[in-house]
Amino acid sequence: MWALGTWVLLGAVCAGSAQLQFNVTKSVEQTACNKTVILPCIVTNLIKNNIQVIFVKWKLEKKAFFIFEGSTGKINRNESFSSAALESPQNLTSGIASLTISKTQAVRGNYSCEVTESSREGETVIELIYHRVPWFTPVENILIILSMVLAILFYWIQLAVTVSKFETTLLKIGLFIAGVVITISAVVGFSLLISDDFKPENQIGLGLIVLPAVILVPCQYFLLQIVYENNLLFAIGVVILESLGYLIAVIGFGLCITACRPKNGAVVIAGLAIMALIALVGLIYAILSGYSKKEQPPRKAVEEPLNAKVTGESDRICYRGGDM
Ligand SMILES: *[C@@H]1O[C@H](CO)[C@@H](O)[C@H](O)[C@H]1NC(C)=O
Ligand SMILES: *[C@@H]1O[C@H](CO)[C@@H](O)[C@H](O)[C@H]1NC(C)=O
Ligand SMILES: *[C@@H]1O[C@H](CO)[C@@H](O)[C@H](O)[C@H]1NC(C)=O
Ligand SMILES: *[C@@H]1O[C@H](CO)[C@@H](O)[C@H](O)[C@H]1NC(C)=O
Ligand SMILES: *[C@@H]1O[C@H](CO)[C@@H](O)[C@H](O)[C@H]1NC(C)=O
Repeated sequence: MWALGTWVLLGAVCAGSAQLQFNVTKSVEQTACNKTVILPCIVTNLIKNNIQVIFVKWKLEKKAFFIFEGSTGKINRNESFSSAALESPQNLTSGIASLTISKTQAVRGNYSCEVTESSREGETVIELIYHRVPWFTPVENILIILSMVLAILFYWIQLAVTVSKFETTLLKIGLFIAGVVITISAVVGFSLLISDDFKPENQIGLGLIVLPAVILVPCQYFLLQIVYENNLLFAIGVVILESLGYLIAVIGFGLCITACRPKNGAVVIAGLAIMALIALVGLIYAILSGYSKKEQPPRKAVEEPLNAKVTGESDRICYRGGDM
C-alpha cells in the first residue's frame, strides 16, 4: 500500500518535471501607441540552460509563424511576420522566449508559445487584445472645438457689425475670404481631430485648427482699426493679447503633436480660449463704440458748449441711445 502510494507520488513528480512551466500571462493589450508589441513567454523551470537543446515555436491560432532552433541558431518566419524576433535572445537560456512584433504585423488573436528543452516541453497561450484609445480625451476635444468655434463666430459677428464702415471693398473682400478660409480649415480640422482611436489624421486635424488661426490676428487688427481710428492703442493691445493666445496655442500644438498620449492638451485649449475671449472683448467694444459713434456727433454739438466739464454726462446719454 505504502509502496504503491510512493510510486504514484514519484510518477506524478516525474511527469510534472517532464513538462516545462510558464509564468502565465493570459492577455496583453496593444494600443495605437505601441510601436512594437511584446508577447511574453517565460519558462520558469529550464534545467539545462543550454541553447543547443532549446527549440521555440510561436503559433497564431494553431499556425506556426516563428520557429527558432537552438542547435543551429536558425529562425524560420512566415513572411507576414517578418518583424518577429525573440525579445531577448541572450536570455533564452534563462527561459525568456518572449517575442516582439512590429505593430503593423501584430494581428489580434490567440498566440501560443511552445518551448522544448531536450525532451521536456510546454506551451502557453497569450491573447493579444487591441484597445482603442483616442488621441485627446473627449473633454479636451470638446474644449478645443468649442474655443475655436467661438473665436471664429465672434470674428464673423464683428465683421458683420463693422462691415458697413469699410470704405475700401478690397479690405472687405479680404476679411471675408480670410473668414471663409479659417472656417473651412477649422471644420476640416474638427472632423479629422475626432476619432475613437488615435490616427495620424488627428495630428493633421489639430494642425488645421491651430496653425491657420494666425489669420485672426491681423484680421482682428483691421476690424478694430475701423471702429477705433482715434484709439489705435486699444486695437494694438487687443492684437497683442490675441497674438499671445495664438503663441500659447502653437506652443501647446508643438508639445502635443509628437506625443502619442498628449499631456499638454490644456495648453492648446488655454491658447485657443484666450483667442476666443479676446475676440469677444474686441466684438463687445466694437458694438458699443459703433453705437456711441452713430449717436455722438449731433449730441456732442449740442452738449459740449453747455457741459464741457461734465464728461460722464455725454457718455451716459450715448449709451442710452444705443439701447434704443
Ligand atoms: C514569474 O512571476 C512572478 C510573479 O508574477 C515573479 O515574481 C517571477 O519573478 C516571475 N518569474 C520569472 C522567471 O520572470
Ligand atoms: C503597449 O505599451 C504599453 C505602455 O507602454 C505597455 O504597458 C504594454 O505592455 C504594451 N503592449 C504590448 C502588447 O506590448
Ligand atoms: C503565412 O501566414 C499566412 C496567414 O497566417 C498564411 O496564409 C500563409 O500560408 C503562411 N505562409 C507560410 C509560408 O507559412
Ligand atoms: C537579459 O540579458 C541582458 C544582458 O545579457 C540583461 O541586461 C537583461 O536584464 C536580461 N533581461 C531579463 C528580462 O532577464
Ligand atoms: C482567444 O481565446 C479565448 C479563450 O479561448 C477566446 O475567448 C477568444 O475569443 C479568443 N480570441 C480570438 C481573437 O480568437
